[in-house]
Amino acid sequence: MAEKLEFGNISSEKAMELEENYGAHNYHPLPVVIAKGDGAFVWDPEGNKYYDFLSAYSAVNQGHCHPKIINALIEQAQTLTLTSRAFFNNRLGEYEKFITEYFGFEMILPMNTGVEGVETAMKLSRRWGYVKKGIQDNKAKIIFCENNFHGRTIGVISASTDPDCRKQFGPYLPGIIQIPYNDPHALDDVLKEQGDEVCAFIVEPIQGEAGVFVPDEGYIKKCYDLCKKYNVLFVADEVQTGIGRTGRLLACDYENVKPDVLILGKAISGGVLPVSAVLSSRDIMLTIKPGEHGSTFGGFPLACAVATEALKVIRDEQLTENAAKLGEIFRKEMKAIDSPLIDIVRGKGLLNAIVIKPKDGIDAWKVCLKLKDKGVLAKPTHEHIIRFAPPLVITEDQLMDAIDRIKKVFDEIL
Ligand SMILES: Cc1ncc(COP(=O)(O)O)c(C=O)c1O
Repeated sequence: MAEKLEFGNISSEKAMELEENYGAHNYHPLPVVIAKGDGAFVWDPEGNKYYDFLSAYSAVNQGHCHPKIINALIEQAQTLTLTSRAFFNNRLGEYEKFITEYFGFEMILPMNTGVEGVETAMKLSRRWGYVKKGIQDNKAKIIFCENNFHGRTIGVISASTDPDCRKQFGPYLPGIIQIPYNDPHALDDVLKEQGDEVCAFIVEPIQGEAGVFVPDEGYIKKCYDLCKKYNVLFVADEVQTGIGRTGRLLACDYENVKPDVLILGKAISGGVLPVSAVLSSRDIMLTIKPGEHGSTFGGFPLACAVATEALKVIRDEQLTENAAKLGEIFRKEMKAIDSPLIDIVRGKGLLNAIVIKPKDGIDAWKVCLKLKDKGVLAKPTHEHIIRFAPPLVITEDQLMDAIDRIKKVFDEIL
């Protein structure tokens, strides 16, 4: 007899079978189906409850289905959703003023997904390079770091060094230079040699997809200073690290660096809609003129209403402060676990990772399966690394309960 379902009308088994048969196989999900979310928790169709320790790759910082954000969505959806930028709309300007003041920038170029934000920043940097820096036409170069992750378009994977992202997708975009991460000397060397033709250095202040790789203290500031020295734009991709996740509003805040160009995505909307943003100065932003860049949905009224509320929630509920405080507890507790499987614990705020040293056939994937059985959802990144990034609304009691479950997994698995 079919099992009774708590949520929806499709069982976990059926949902997985449908995805397997009708969806492209471009992901390798953990075998769990999510049918409902609320705060730090998600449920499968059969009613099993889990802590969400991925938060949709840090998009759901405000927790699943935050009532204030959902209300903003509903209200706006009943009034006006999309106009395109062929006309003005009554939400965009207000949102633009709000978000620029919120992050301390002069102008925003609104887009939808994170990768579109990165593409936009690349175009803006090239344009600035030609118009303001005087780089010869078609010669502009952008510096990226090895092991970066900035998304999946052809332009952006051209900057990737990950074979899974790149192979058999060429030919790639020219004008890209790759240097080692966490090595300011490498940046200095390239800028010394080719600085005249470099328009931008695009960097993640913590490399998220690479496995929450936290660079040495001072790295971001040193890179910023080098960019200033060589008249190069310092572009921070804070799509994953931004908006409270690392215990500061922006990860760059740890080093008091204000990027020339800031890319945000994911949690701008609390995981409700794809919303991204490129923030910069008037001087840089106005190098792009009408008709030269855009997107049908970029800055649509629904996104403006949702993003405004989602950013207010971060501030009103002091989620950045919560991330800082609970992150300390999480790392301390993880470091205290005595298990040969745990190699390294690292992270900032509530963006953390454990590097697993496989033993007796137990690897990161198997640890994640056991975590799932104990009610904690996390996913390996790059084979041996498990990222732990719960919604920032998680309470201390909930975090301690999840930590107990994680400890039990390491106690019992070998
Ligand atoms: C740092 C960074 N930049 C860009 C992206 C791409 O965002 P999206 O998947 O919304 O295109 C990601 C996604 O994980 C990211 O972590």
